[in-house]
Amino acid sequence: MQTILDEIAQQMAQTLDKGEVATYIPQLAQVDPNQFAISVALPSGEMFSAGCADKHFSIQSISKVFTLTVALGRLGESIWSRVGKEPSGDPFNSIVQLEHEQGKPCNPFINAGAIAIADLLLQGHQPKETLAEIIQFIRFLADDDSIAIDEKVARSEIETGARNASLAYFMASFGHFQNPVDAVLGTYFHHCSIAMNTQQLSRAGLFLANNGINPASGYPIVSAERAKRINSLMLLCGHYDGSGEFAFRVGLPGKSGVGGGILAIAPGKASIAVWSPGLDVIGNSKLGTQALELFAAKTGWSVFGE
Ligand code: DON
Repeated sequence: MQTILDEIAQQMAQTLDKGEVATYIPQLAQVDPNQFAISVALPSGEMFSAGCADKHFSIQSISKVFTLTVALGRLGESIWSRVGKEPSGDPFNSIVQLEHEQGKPCNPFINAGAIAIADLLLQGHQPKETLAEIIQFIRFLADDDSIAIDEKVARSEIETGARNASLAYFMASFGHFQNPVDAVLGTYFHHCSIAMNTQQLSRAGLFLANNGINPASGYPIVSAERAKRINSLMLLCGHYDGSGEFAFRVGLPGKSGVGGGILAIAPGKASIAVWSPGLDVIGNSKLGTQALELFAAKTGWSVFGE
């Protein structure tokens, strides 16, 4: 495994086109694109890494995997009345489908869907309490109490969040929101601004590769059935309108973020986190996808076979 990761990191270092960092969140525009990290966490507890695997980055939309898991744990299958389970085929911040479907986002990973999940999580809580619950959950999964929100990124998102505010108010116009729009948006922006490194992220995803059980403690985080379903949503919706391309090239459930991270799950085998801040035109990490494509080919771990 270490040889595989070293080879991938070396190949990524030699790749000239590293994509473009996200600029619509000014704080993310300042990140040096010449960075790459990969970590692989195995159910045995072993961890392998290459590149700058202890460098923190903004997990952005990858946080939506964890907020979905918390929402399912708290509210169960009732959440599916607020968000769908279908791939969107549209960009992550698109508003068009919302009008056709009366303010019900097609899945929990597009921005509108994650904002709807944030509204559900706020029920009966203050934003600070909900954020504490999300952070505590991620810290528990990663077995690392140092994981925190990057306030600078959160503020940067709030200052430039007109599109997300539009999505939220549009949904609220259909009467779906149970909480003030500003509180929902604040919660959403802050959970997107959680900073982690690839070691922490790969460990946090391990329950999805291990039938819902956190291997370190043997503690069931979700049922095996729920883990399977979260993985299927990641496969079909985790890369927005690039999900088909990602499944075609990598063949693993994966969730990307505009900070350049991707969490990929090889069910029964490993949780893999990659990071490289340069993005492709859709907004998914360019080298991250390339690295995972190589990783899946070298390991033969695609869910579609070797
Ligand atoms: O709301 C946003 O636009 C960001 N906080 C998250 C978007 C994102 O990560 C899309 N991923 N590729």
